[in-house]
Parts: sequence; C-alpha cells; structure tokens
Amino acid sequence: MDTAVLSTGIADRPTELQSLPINPSIVDPLWWRSAVIYQIYIRSFADGNGDGTGDLAGVRSRLGYLRDLGVDALWFTPWYASPLADGGYDVEDYKTIHPSFGDLAEAEALIREALALGIRTIIDVVPNHTSAEDPWFKAALASPPGSPERERFWFRPGKGENGDEMPNHWVSNFSGDTWTRTTNPDGTPGEWYLHLFTPEQPDLNWNHPDVKAMFEDVLRFWFDRGVAGVRIDSAALLVKDPDLPEVPEDIEPGQHPNTDRDELHDIYRSWREIADSYQGARILVGEIWLPDSERFAKYLRPDEMHTAFNFDFMARPWDARELRESIDSMLAAHAPVGAPSTWVLSNHDVTRPVTRYGRADTSFAFATKRFNTPTDLALGLRRSRAAALLSAALPGSLYVYQGDELGLPEAESIPVEVLQDPMYFRSDGVDPGRDGCRVPLPWSGTRPPYGFEPDGSASAPWLPQPDDWAGLTVAAEAGDSASMLSLYRTALSIRRSHPALGDGTLTWVDAQDGVLSFTRGLGFQSVTNLSDVPVELPPHVRLLLSSTPLENGLLPSDSTAWLRTQH
Ligand code: GLC
Repeated sequence: MDTAVLSTGIADRPTELQSLPINPSIVDPLWWRSAVIYQIYIRSFADGNGDGTGDLAGVRSRLGYLRDLGVDALWFTPWYASPLADGGYDVEDYKTIHPSFGDLAEAEALIREALALGIRTIIDVVPNHTSAEDPWFKAALASPPGSPERERFWFRPGKGENGDEMPNHWVSNFSGDTWTRTTNPDGTPGEWYLHLFTPEQPDLNWNHPDVKAMFEDVLRFWFDRGVAGVRIDSAALLVKDPDLPEVPEDIEPGQHPNTDRDELHDIYRSWREIADSYQGARILVGEIWLPDSERFAKYLRPDEMHTAFNFDFMARPWDARELRESIDSMLAAHAPVGAPSTWVLSNHDVTRPVTRYGRADTSFAFATKRFNTPTDLALGLRRSRAAALLSAALPGSLYVYQGDELGLPEAESIPVEVLQDPMYFRSDGVDPGRDGCRVPLPWSGTRPPYGFEPDGSASAPWLPQPDDWAGLTVAAEAGDSASMLSLYRTALSIRRSHPALGDGTLTWVDAQDGVLSFTRGLGFQSVTNLSDVPVELPPHVRLLLSSTPLENGLLPSDSTAWLRTQH
C-alpha cells in the first residue's frame, strides 16, 4: 500500500478531494505519540478579510509560519456555525463553517494545504451540549412536555408546588445554576432544561439514539474530509444519571451523576471503531479534567481514545517537587494502558504561563482567578521559557497554544465593557474570564492591530490588543535570537531531529534539591533549575540549548538546559 495513503487516508475522501497533493514525508502511523500540536483559536489567529475576526483565509496565509515553527498538527477550536455564546463551543451546525471564518470549501483547502506542508488537522467536537439555536433544540422548545423532540435533551418539570424550583442543584462549570425554565406557547412557565455550561448550551441526552447517530455522522463527515483527529470537548461529562439526583457528599468513583460515568467508555469505543475504520491514524484526544489519574487513564485504553490532555502538570505550581510528582504520576498512570502522555502548558481556557508563573501562586485553578493579581512578568517569562523546554523534553506529545510561542502574557487591561466570556458574566464579574488569553495575535508593526488584519482594515480586532506588544510580534521576535519565538523554533527543530525525544521513556538523574534532571535515551539530558541559586551542569559534550544564557558556566535559577551527553 502507498504509505501516503496509509497515513492520510486520502483514499477515503470524497472523489472531488482525491487529487490532493500529499507530503510523502508524512508516513508514520504513530505520529500522534510524539506530535507537536499547535492550538489555533481561529477568531484570534489571523484575519484575512479585515473584519476584525480571525478566519480560515488568515490561517491559510500563515501556514508557512507554522511549518517554520516546526509543528506536526493543528488543532482548531470550533470553527462551525454558532451564535458564539461561548466562543463557538455552542455549535449550531457541524457541517457549516461559521460565515465569519469562511466556508467548507476553504476548510477543505486548508486541510489539503496544511497536509502538503506536512501538517495534519485536528478539529474540535463538542458532544456534551449543542447550541440553543440548533434546530433540534428549537423543535424541543416548540414541542410539548413528554414529546419525542424533548427527549434529545434533559427537560424536566420543576419541583415545588408551582414547579418553580429547579429539578436539582447541580452547579454549572461556569458558576451559577444548571437549569433554565422554559415558557409555554401560552406564556405560562414551563419545564426546565439542563445546561452544565450556559443556558445557550443545552445538554444533550446521550441515552437517545439520535444523539449517538448524529455524532457518528459528524465524525465521518470530517474524517472523509481528511482530518487527522478530533479533540473531544468536556469528554467526561456526556452521560448523566437519568434520575438526575443531587451530587452526594462522598462519591465512589464512577458514581457522580454527571461526571466520569462508566457508560462513557462505550461511546468512545464506538468512536474509536469509526476512527480505525479509516486508513491512516485518525486520533481521538479527550478533554478530561479528572483528579483521579487511574480513572483518567481508563479513557486511554487501546480501544478508546488515543490521548487526553494532561492538565495536572499545567495546574501545578512552579516547584521542583510538585512538577516531578506530576510527571511521575502521569507517566505511571499512562503506562498500564500503553498510551503516551501529553504535555500542555496552556490553552484558550487558562491564564497564560508568562502571567501565571510570575505570580505568588504559580498553580492554576479556575476558582482562584481574580482581577488585579500582582504579577512579575519578567520572572514569568523566564520561567515560561524554562517550562517550554522542560515540557518539550518529556515523553509523549506536546501542545502549544497560539501565542505561547511568542511569550504573550495574559491581556489583563481589556476594558470590562468589551469582555465577552460567559465565565466573567456568570461569576458576576468576580472571575476575569478567559478573554485575556484569547486576544488576537500580534504579527508585525508597532501598534494595534499589529498585522493581525490587512493594512487599512476598517474594523478593529474583536478584542482589543494591549498597546505594549510591539516587542512581542512575530516580526520582532523572528529577528531576535533571544526571543521566545527563536527558543521555540530551535527547541522544536531539535525535538524533531533527536530520535530520543517525543514518545519513549525518561530516566531521572540524581540532582540537588530544586533541580529536575533526566535523560531521554542515550545522549540527551534535560536539566531544569527551579532552585534560587545557579547550579552546575552535569558532564556533557555540548550545550544544545538553554532557556537563559549560562552564567560562568552555571545554569541560572528558573532555567532549563538541553545537553548532548556522551552516554
Ligand atoms: C471546554 C472548552 C471551553 C468551553 C467548555 C464548554 O472546557 O475548552 O472553552 O467553554 O468546554 O464547551
């Protein structure tokens, strides 16, 4: 069999897509075990048509940048038709691209062009909920209680004498209630419906065969178009206990009424069968936030998902003991199921590392995000550079969120009047929300819009960019060997060419307190100094890269060095 066909599954594509140019270098069916995957938040990546919103044309015009960065795949946050009540995680129609982003033909062209450069495409699928504008939900609202249309969702009568109490008191992942009351056609108050996120995101009933069939169809639709994988949103939440009981105080694993229920595994087994029915490795990547690493790893059994985001490492503070414990426990949890770990420093939901690591509390938790938290950005940048090299040296695949390769900080001066994120609104303005990590990228120039949109565009970027990002543009950093972009480019190029990096094993090397030192196969050692004094490097043949220049031959604090060693 032609290896290009094996790896890309081009033979499965509709006839009109079969004459695509294929990069013959993409031949590894295990690509996903070592891949560097770049996350594109499409609204904010690059705007091709000047309307202030990023789009497919913008991405297509920047594919050369992504190739030069050295990434293996792109993960696009939802690009579908959507009212954008939650940045596109409220999907109205999976087979239509949001008109602000482009159209299906452009998405197909992008998949093709990226592949020709050796870059695969992963799309986002949001199975826990849909959009309130989805025809299914509209039909449900227009139909009476007990009707088949309502069975695709979670409609329930209210409790109490007049039904004006919510069916239960589950708390939304975006704070606040998880139930919204409907209004009957005659204007009287009606049933309630469940939404673990916003009211614009009604939860689907996964006991309903239509729901299962719809998502299987969506997977095939996009696999037919050559996508190499799907990122599964809120993957541990889909199945609910149909009795919708309150959340008990003490819960045995698998007994939570809306999280990590055992029935989920059958869903992912059926998705895996679909993925495996295509040629080439089409992958399933789960967004799974679970404190129990054994339960987490169950989703990665050989007939379920390929990988899942490792959020434990990301959430830990900048502390050697904590990070080592996280690395060890994640590798130990993955080992029995044979899946590689992923390494993730940030995404479109969390505070940018440059900001996070510059604070007194360097860990991440949604619940503790607050406005006006004092931050030392220089310290945060230095630690982010060290963290970038540390995570890129660990065994498994690596995620890079757009803008992290530029060292962008969280944008914290966005006027509250233009904030968009429901997390801000639903917390009554206590949680600053996620807009600060979603600001349009700076490409060039010295002032907003920093080349994000074509010169002379009439519309400003959909979220305002800070005034002090002139030094953080791609153009500024590309010419500066000391920039974060140069660090990422060099690191990814070493990672790609060094056989021991990516998938594989790690061996810890004894080091002094506060230092993380490990080898990857023969000849490669990574050393991260999280202590507050410079440390000596172990014997080595050559310094391959360091996140901070050495001082008198010593590795300064908050720095990582990659070494070529003799053994
Ligand atoms: C996931 C997404 C987040 C979204 C939520 C609801 O956590 O990453 O952006 O708001 O799911 O779909």
